[in-house]
Parts: sequence; structure tokens; C-alpha cells
Amino acid sequence: MTQKISLTRYLVEQQRVDGRIPPQLRLLIEVVARACKRVSQAVNKGALGGVLGTAGSENVQGEVQKKLDIIANEVLIEANEWGGHLAAMASEEMDGIYVVPNRYPQGEYLLLFDPLDGSSNIDVNVSIGTIFSVLRKPAGDAGVEEKDFLQPGKCQVAAGYCVYGPQTTLVLTVGDGVAMFTLDREQGSFVLIEENVRIPADTKEFAINMSNMRHWDAPVRRYIDECLEGQDGPRGKNFNMRWIASMVADVHRILTRGGIFMYPWDKREPDKPGKLRLMYEANPMAWLVEQAGGAATNGHERILDIQPGKLHERVSVILGSKNEVERVTAYHRDAEARQPAA
Ligand code: AHG
Ligand code: MN
Ligand code: MN
Repeated sequence: MTQKISLTRYLVEQQRVDGRIPPQLRLLIEVVARACKRVSQAVNKGALGGVLGTAGSENVQGEVQKKLDIIANEVLIEANEWGGHLAAMASEEMDGIYVVPNRYPQGEYLLLFDPLDGSSNIDVNVSIGTIFSVLRKPAGDAGVEEKDFLQPGKCQVAAGYCVYGPQTTLVLTVGDGVAMFTLDREQGSFVLIEENVRIPADTKEFAINMSNMRHWDAPVRRYIDECLEGQDGPRGKNFNMRWIASMVADVHRILTRGGIFMYPWDKREPDKPGKLRLMYEANPMAWLVEQAGGAATNGHERILDIQPGKLHERVSVILGSKNEVERVTAYHRDAEARQPAA
């Protein structure tokens, strides 16, 4: 009988092999996974648990908060604040950083999360998730401030998400490839289902909110127009479209069978670089995608190289199958080259 490998065992082995992850980071990931199990339970109860609907408040980004946005945020904070592995946390649902209260020991890590991604899908019983990113607190500082979080995505030491769909699946990288674990509800533990997730370099599937087409910039329009022309167009093949409207579920599909996901800058809010948030949506997803052999850019540069200027910074996102992401990025370069010099 083949033995099932639990998340705990996987992490212990990661710790043993060349000390790939230190014990504190292993603890942190386990605690995040435990919190995700609790969020999963709340999600599963739905109306029976009284968790659906809006909370009647707004977050720092001016978005209406759903009850589950707040519940998931509280679950993650409560689970993570006392273990001694963290110095502070930051979340989509909190204006500023949450410093670990001084009644608990302070650790050396910083945790960022989108507690509930895909809020518009909560009440309609469609896949949603939790996205997380882990940074090391810069050495030398006694306290912890917001500026300690402002590190580019390439500095992440762990990143992942948990998707609450027909199955609850946790996807993780610590910089050594991407592993997937599905929650075994009878055992109450995450079980390894795939250790070396790879995204095919080519794809015939794209994910973008087509209703924004009239607001897009020329390079994105060019790319999608060419896909839509199908077999008779310049790409010489037919494309399929999927848009779940939960980044976590769209990225999960891409990690499973390839594809390209785009939430580009558009003219609706031209002063914002994009809709999605760099530090707790784009960065963890970009690292997972790169670790699986894919690529992630904002059309101009690698997402993981972007130096954040603020906690809730937004970014344009193009990620997934490498050759397609490179094509869209090249279309941006072409458009720039054609711009008359200022
Ligand atoms: P969140 O629920 O955390 O605010 O994020 C929602 C994001 C992302 O998950 C998704 O890709 C996108 O918003 C959906 O946007 P549209 O409403 O434009 O489809
Ligand atoms: Mn989100
Ligand atoms: Mn969210």
C-alpha cells in the first residue's frame, strides 16, 4: 500500500533535506494550513453557518466587506499571533500592519494574506480561496514597521494558497518547486497529491474579464483579438476562455492544466496600476507560477522584481504558460517602441 504523505511529513522532510526550511517557517506554514482548514469549514457551512452576505463595512480599498472576508481575516490572525513565529501580519482587510501583541514572543517572519479571495463568488457557491506570502523581517530592527514589509516578491520565503472548491486544496512553494495537498476531511489533514507541479509552456486557454475589453490598452487587445481569430488568424489555433472571477481558482486551473491569466491595467481607473494587489495576490501567485515553470509580468517587468512602495499597492498581472506570457509582454514592448519619444 502506498503511504499517504501528510503536509506535516512533507514539511518535516523539507526541514531535514539540507535544512531547506527552518523549524519556525515549518511551524508558520502548519499554522496557516490549520487556519485554512477552519476557513474551509466556515465556507462549507454557508447559509447554515450564517456566514453568507455582506458585513456592512468597507475595507481600506473601498470594497464592501463580506462576512467571510472578516471571518477569514480573524481566523488567520488568531491562529498566527501566539506561536512565536511571526513579528507582524498584513492583510487585504486591514488598513495597516498587525504587530504581534507583546504578550506573545516575536518571531522573525512577516505574513501577508488575502484572507478570502473571490469575494463576489462566496454567495453563489463558486470556488474561493486564501492567498498567503511569507517574508523574513529585515535583520537589525528591534521593532517592526510597515516599511519592513516593502520587499520585492523575489524575497518571499514561502507562498501559497488554499482553494475552497469541490475539494479544499493547499498549494505551496518554499522555493523548491510547487506541491499540492488536498484536505482529507476524515483524517482532518492535508495529503500530498502532486509534488512537482509543472505548467505547460504553451496553451490554448486564456482567462480575462472580457467585459472590460473596451477599457484595455492596445497590447492586451491585440493579444486577445489574435486569440479570438482562432485557426484562421495569426495564431493558427482555436482558443478557449475561462473566467472564474476568483484569482485563486483561475490560477489553480493554470497550475493544473496550463493557461494564461490577465488582470491588466485598464482605463476605468487609469491612475491605478491595476486591480489586483501586489503584495498578497500577485507576488505569491507569481512565485508559485515561476516555480512551476511559468512566467509572471506586469507587461513590462517580472512581477517578483517590483519594489513595492506601499502595503496595498496594485499591479497589472499577466501570468501562466511561459510562451504566452512572453508574447503578451513582447506586445507591450512593441507598443512602447512605437510610442514617439517625449
Ligand atoms: P478579492 O475578492 O480578494 O477582492 O479579489 C477579487 C479579485 C480576484 O480574485 C479576481 O480575479 C478579480 O477580483 C475578479 O474581478 P472581476 O470582478 O473584474 O471579475
Ligand atoms: Mn483577492
Ligand atoms: Mn480578498
